[in-house]
Amino acid sequence: MRWLSRIFSGSGVPKASLGLTPELERRIRESFDESATDEEHFPVTIDPRIYHVQLILNYFGDLSGRRVLDLGCGKGRFARVLAERHPASKLISGVDISTAMLAFVRPPLAACAATMTALPLADAAFDCVYATESLEHAVDIEKAVAEMCRVLKPGGRLVIIDKNAEHWGKLKTPEWERWFHRAELEKLVARHCRTVSSQFISYWEDVEPDGMFLAWLAEK
Ligand SMILES: C[S@@+](CC[C@H](N)C(=O)[O-])C[C@H]1O[C@@H](n2cnc3c(N)ncnc32)[C@H](O)[C@@H]1O
Repeated sequence: MRWLSRIFSGSGVPKASLGLTPELERRIRESFDESATDEEHFPVTIDPRIYHVQLILNYFGDLSGRRVLDLGCGKGRFARVLAERHPASKLISGVDISTAMLAFVRPPLAACAATMTALPLADAAFDCVYATESLEHAVDIEKAVAEMCRVLKPGGRLVIIDKNAEHWGKLKTPEWERWFHRAELEKLVARHCRTVSSQFISYWEDVEPDGMFLAWLAEK
């Protein structure tokens, strides 16, 4: 990945939490704006059989009349599958820091350019919220988790899919990226949600997870 090689930190160790300064926010936005042209690594579509998609669909269940938020939605590939499967949903909306990524998000999906650490959205506005491989870029992780839970209704469901900190160093990463330990993110989400669990997942349901990807599931 061009953009990854350019900004690879090279240390192989997660950096201590950086503050999301306006300068860092600008660099992250510009990096993903540039990556939006890279359809190979940032595709518009996703195979709905991939377990990451299936897990979200199964955990959320029937979305008729429900409002769903995809945080760090990129080109909206997950949201597109949810909208196709649940045409009676009330709203499926994506937030992303990159307007170039959001340019690929089309109706019936709604798009909102913002950082997930400061959502311009009302409290308890959504029945379901999810973030796939985006929290790892949020820098101020506590703030991002607080925000995703703030916009979730009491009783609403949350899914976070990200990479396991125990595998840090196996992929090139930009200097702001962070991966998570299972218990660490469970603890953070538990500040805002009644129930939290986590599980290892792989791309395909019948393939044993290799430990790289984790899913955290919570109910507020
Ligand atoms: C690896 S991509 C994943 C995109 C999408 N979730 C998917 O799985 O196809 C990470 C996305 O997070 C977005 N992102 C990074 N930092 C963000 C932030 N602070 N707030 C909102 N979106 C952010 C990027 O612009 C990018 O589209």
